[in-house]
Amino acid sequence: MIVSRSYEEFAEHRDRMEGSIGFVPTMGALHEGHLSLIRRAREENEHVIVSVFVNPTQFLEGEDLEKYPRREEADRKICELAGVDLLYMPTADQIYDEDELCIAAPKVRGYILEGARRPGHFDGMLQVVMKLLNLSRADRAYFGMKDAQQLVLIQRMVRHYFMKVEIVPCPIVRDPDGLALSSRNVYLSEEERRRALSISRSLKRAGKMIQGGEYEVSRIVEAMEGTLRPDVDELEYIAVVDRDFRPLERIVPGESIILVAAKVGSTRLIDNLWV
Ligand code: PAF
Repeated sequence: MIVSRSYEEFAEHRDRMEGSIGFVPTMGALHEGHLSLIRRAREENEHVIVSVFVNPTQFLEGEDLEKYPRREEADRKICELAGVDLLYMPTADQIYDEDELCIAAPKVRGYILEGARRPGHFDGMLQVVMKLLNLSRADRAYFGMKDAQQLVLIQRMVRHYFMKVEIVPCPIVRDPDGLALSSRNVYLSEEERRRALSISRSLKRAGKMIQGGEYEVSRIVEAMEGTLRPDVDELEYIAVVDRDFRPLERIVPGESIILVAAKVGSTRLIDNLWV
């Protein structure tokens, strides 16, 4: 595996690659969720590129940029064992210049739900993803469905900017107790982690109601609130949208996403169910 820190070195190695390329952009602190993306990229492509870059422009003032988990050595080992060919670990000055052209997230889809709680987050996320997709010139790029709004916005960017890469959505990976894997789970104390399980439980409950024929969003949301409220410290939202992030009043099977964002202690967690 080749590890590049500079853009020039990365570009040189990338240019030598022939055949299909699968790309997995990450912010590091790699876990099973990332590994599932890397494995899928490995299966479907001749070469696999991974980037590890904690992108400052997608963190808001007061968010956890400084304390975001960084585990470069472990990430490097994980990538090597997973059969990654090229690992890009740039510094911020390799990626950003001063006073540069910015990408703005769409005014509606980029500013509801996650975008409303974290205004500007998706601008920075799209900006770095555009850069990384251009750098890697991958045939396929792999993104987790846990960050559903991120995924849908990236799909829109690729469509709107006529980019040739195929965006491959990958299923959420959970711990055996149901907690969706996230690099931020390390912030949870044991007691908080136990309470955080109410998030996946509420989604499971919604799934069961839908299987039982309940499609009315208001009733599903009420039941989810009943599961969540006793355990989470702040329920930010429960939302039901279609696959293009338009709000729904009734579940449309095969076309709906149920989303939750909640704080447990000071940790903000998101999770969702595609139904
Ligand atoms: O999902 C993430 O880890 C990040 O938002 C991404 C896509 C790597 C961009 O920084």
